[in-house]
Amino acid sequence: MPDASTTTQTLQLRVARMEWAATDILEVEFRATEGGPLPGYTPGAHIDLALPNGLMRSYSIKGAPEVADRYVVGVGLDAASRGGSSYVHRTLRVGDVLPVTAPSNHFPLVEDAPQTVLIAGGIGVTPLVCMARRLSEKGAPCIFHYAVRSADRAAFLEELEGLDIDLRLHVDAEAGGPLDVTAALAGHPEGTHAYCCGPAGMMQAFEAATTGWPEDNVHVEYFSPKVQETTDADADGPFEVECRRSGKVVQVAEGQPVSAALIAAGIAVETSCEDGICGTCETRVLEGTPDHRDSVLTRKEREANRTMMVCVSRCKGGRLVLDL
Ligand code: FES
Repeated sequence: MPDASTTTQTLQLRVARMEWAATDILEVEFRATEGGPLPGYTPGAHIDLALPNGLMRSYSIKGAPEVADRYVVGVGLDAASRGGSSYVHRTLRVGDVLPVTAPSNHFPLVEDAPQTVLIAGGIGVTPLVCMARRLSEKGAPCIFHYAVRSADRAAFLEELEGLDIDLRLHVDAEAGGPLDVTAALAGHPEGTHAYCCGPAGMMQAFEAATTGWPEDNVHVEYFSPKVQETTDADADGPFEVECRRSGKVVQVAEGQPVSAALIAAGIAVETSCEDGICGTCETRVLEGTPDHRDSVLTRKEREANRTMMVCVSRCKGGRLVLDL
């Protein structure tokens, strides 16, 4: 995880290209308004778009990191969109200029694994395309399971077919059901690293199938919040947050996000998804025990209690001290 105290750089980027990549999936390319190179990134990275309707939304970068003058993202039209993907699809147009955060990466690729298994569902393919390209370039063994509901929804397929990887397309409508994630993860050699980005059911199946794997070999990126198995009902209530650097003490009301209470008290906190999935609001914890409710931190990171996502996580025990 990056340093939680880092302030993310914001760029002004122009929409340089928008193309259909598949049914309901747009490929959107951003470039600097004056052209020229952009801050670099590694496979698995994402950018956050500050949309003119006031929403911040995170999108994984699909493009090749060595092409330094652009970020290319895939945006699926979400039927339950709260204004992010529907804005991109219906209102955003080529030539528009947006504030966009420099790339950050909570889903990094381990490039020297003896075997890599990538499992993508729908628009979750986006960060994995970038990973597959890197592994193909290195000649590293990679099996890529790509699951889509129907063949017309398979974005970036041609690009994947051109890579030196073992690509296995699974079309639910033709196979009569979803990808068997457990079978996809069976029988791989020791040291295999597995990555998954897809809808909630696929993520749950992946997490279940990798129980017992070394935690460092299992990598997930959620684009909808993970079902939390162990939240503390007591943590739903009010509690106090001391912000050590600013010297302020903030009361967080029952049901109120910590980030909202901090912002109302005049403390600068960066947020984006406000759903615990992007990592933007990660904040260092100095004292107290968070009740972690995000989809970003690993089990080890949760147990260490060094940081928390203040948009969704709360407090066990009535008081937290944060490095703010
Ligand atoms: S704002 Fe995205 S994790 Fe908190």
